[in-house]
Amino acid sequence: MIHAHNLVKEFGEPAQRIINDITIDIKEGEFVSIAGRSGSGKSTLLYIISTLDNPTHGVVEINNRVINNLSVEEVHEFRNKNIGFIFQFHYLLPELSALENVLLPPMNSGIQKQYKKRALELLERLNISHTLNKMPGQMSGGEQQRVAIARALIMNPKYIFADEPTGNLDSTNAQIVMDILKEVNKESGTTISLVTHDREFSKMADREIFLVDGKISDTYL
Ligand SMILES: Nc1ncnc2c1ncn2[C@@H]1O[C@H](COP(=O)(O)OP(=O)(O)OP(=O)(O)O)[C@@H](O)[C@H]1O
Ligand SMILES: [Mg+2]
Repeated sequence: MIHAHNLVKEFGEPAQRIINDITIDIKEGEFVSIAGRSGSGKSTLLYIISTLDNPTHGVVEINNRVINNLSVEEVHEFRNKNIGFIFQFHYLLPELSALENVLLPPMNSGIQKQYKKRALELLERLNISHTLNKMPGQMSGGEQQRVAIARALIMNPKYIFADEPTGNLDSTNAQIVMDILKEVNKESGTTISLVTHDREFSKMADREIFLVDGKISDTYL
């Protein structure tokens, strides 16, 4: 589970408080959405609970380990083994093909061979089989995003953190992505934290967390 308590994040000089004393627990196998207006702090919060950024104050525990205390190497290993990231900017490697990008996580552990079949299945499921050998520069934004989603899913991670994973997609492909997320949550027990503007998608989660000005709110404002 993820246990984050009394999180504060400040940026700039004078310090501006973007996350203002947030405590959340996300249970094993839970599918949680984080919704709120632009600028409310959703991405900032997701970065902190997903090990990619440190809070100014507060503690994040995942799997009963305090993430803030791990060394850089330990955090890298933890991420590669346990976490799939899907972000607004998808960070594909420009010199690798779609398939190679999807196989990057297992390649880091030298076990890409046994994942090739799954990679091809994911590409097919996401309607991007035709991009297999294309470089990111030769793909549309939505195709690149779906490659990044396949990459996040390839190792069947215990946790998935997704920031607007459907942002660049038409409604058909957005629905496919949401269906896949729901499926890995139900079938593999993957714990999913999803940031979305879309209330319809937000409602697909087990629980909705609303952010207003860096605080948790009872309702979507
Ligand atoms: N590195 C940074 N330095 C300074 N301010 C930042 C930084 N990152 C985020 N902010 C500010 O923090 C606030 C929250 O940003 P954040 O990206 O978390 O919002 P968001 O809810 O994800 O918005 P959106 O829906 O537009 O993606 C914004 O006002 C933003 O300008
Ligand atoms: Mg954001």
